Amino acid sequence: MVSLPKGYQIRRTEVGDYLGVMDTLKVLTEVGHVPREQFVETITYWNSVQVPWIGSKSHGNGVQPIKAYDPLVITNESGRVVATGTIVIEAKLIHSCGLVGHIEDVAVASDQQGKQLGLLLIEHLTEIGRKAGCYKIILDCSVKNVEFYKKCGYTQVGLEMEFRF
Ligand code: ACO
Repeated sequence: MVSLPKGYQIRRTEVGDYLGVMDTLKVLTEVGHVPREQFVETITYWNSVQVPWIGSKSHGNGVQPIKAYDPLVITNESGRVVATGTIVIEAKLIHSCGLVGHIEDVAVASDQQGKQLGLLLIEHLTEIGRKAGCYKIILDCSVKNVEFYKKCGYTQVGLEMEFRF
């Protein structure tokens, strides 16, 4: 794994990260109007949802629920959020009730891009999925980011379809 720059930290997103996360996500897409209370409600919901143990080999024999949402932030030496990304763990029936990780909403602040923060974030999200016992992790990205994800160890398979409302 690559190392964080001095003073930078990677950790689970907290309700106090409201402004930093919302600002960082602007490099990804149209964020829209998200009042602080809705951010707090969403983080609280993410913290509460668990995937029950359902037979993944890596979980052994015990019943060990895991969090379904793992939102991460990277903060810089002054505590500012400079990157964010989430893995969502999906419980399936196929693959013997296997787990699939979905990496979502990856964003590195414009002035922090090119410092390996994106790579580091993906490495950490991937490790969460591996430890959870996922048999694979998937994500959607635009063509311009394919090379970035290849550098993170991902391979290009299939096509993305969308039905937009
Ligand atoms: N094309 C080709 N190579 C790239 C690209 C790219 N678009 N982006 C990064 N790389 C390369 C870097 O050059 C580096 O290569 P090296 O190790 O040989 O030097 C390697 O990939 C790692 O790059 P990082 O410095 O970790 O990339 P960065 O921190 O800038 O993060 C990211 C990349 C996340 C794509 C960032 O540019 C960003 O936030 N972009 C805008 C939002 C976005 O597109 N997010 C991804 C959406 S997909 C999703 O959310 C599932």
